[in-house]
Amino acid sequence: MEEQLHALHKTYPILRLAPYTLSFADIRTIKDIYGHGSPCPKDDVDALTAGGGHPHMLNVVNREEHARKRRMLSNAFAARNLQLFWSNLFTVDAIADIALSKRLGFLDSGSNDIIMDGQVINFLDSLHRGNRVSSRIIGAGGWFYFLRGLSMMFSPYLRSQWGHGGKFGGVVRMLAGERLEEQLQEQETQETKKRSDFFPCLIDDRNGDPRGLERVEIDAETSILLDSGADTTATALTNVIYYLIKNPQSQKKLRNEVSNAFSENGIVASYAKVKNLPYLKA
Ligand code: HEM
Repeated sequence: MEEQLHALHKTYPILRLAPYTLSFADIRTIKDIYGHGSPCPKDDVDALTAGGGHPHMLNVVNREEHARKRRMLSNAFAARNLQLFWSNLFTVDAIADIALSKRLGFLDSGSNDIIMDGQVINFLDSLHRGNRVSSRIIGAGGWFYFLRGLSMMFSPYLRSQWGHGGKFGGVVRMLAGERLEEQLQEQETQETKKRSDFFPCLIDDRNGDPRGLERVEIDAETSILLDSGADTTATALTNVIYYLIKNPQSQKKLRNEVSNAFSENGIVASYAKVKNLPYLKA
């Protein structure tokens, strides 16, 4: 299906997939659809990805609710804060660190196994399997839950895929719970550790007043951060690296530009020096 769509889009920039479903393949539409002040609401299909649980920033359809959630995390996403995080922005390790100050150590250990209730869970496998199976039927709109139930009833394979998705939810709840515990303990003892993660934005507003979010909403927002922050960045980096390998001229040009941004004896170029490099930014 994805391949067919890709092939058709080479000729047609806009395709109608269903009476109310359009697919765009023109780069200009990104700003029109997702840009600031866009009149496009989120798709009702988004609500289905909440899986009956609490919606998070990405799948909340109601505009006011969405705006409330955006305000909550706007400080965390502000460029000046992300600059602090940039050097780590690669993988699940990075996003767990950025969102929760959690050092998963996946890169160091070369494995993304995580222990939950004495059980070994493969973080990426559970995330991918759940998303893959739900992406197959999410386009069915109102039929989503029915098809999910049916697939669980009749296919042991699909049942296990849904089960893996559920395990990812469990891991998220565990990590959010651990971070919440730390946050509450710090508030109690007034011994604040110097952290610069996103989590406090969910607990208190800018004035330090408690937001009083329900635990399910904290879990949902943590889930979208860990989910959307990991694969998107990894895919973008993988593609950039692929094209650089295929195009040695571009690789050389970029390498020269970045090398010149290093100070003498520097191991890591500072963000201040790399943020305006024209070829890197192009
Ligand atoms: C190259 C990397 C990335 C790409 C291509 C990407 C792509 C997208 C797209 C297309 C959307 C809009 C989805 C929709 O409304 O239907 C989105 C929303 C979102 N992304 Fe990303 N993303 C990337 C990195 C990240 C990172 C690193 C994070 C977290 C730290 C993140 C968190 C979010 C959140 C929370 C939303 C929902 C925003 C809202 O609805 O207001 N994304 N992303």
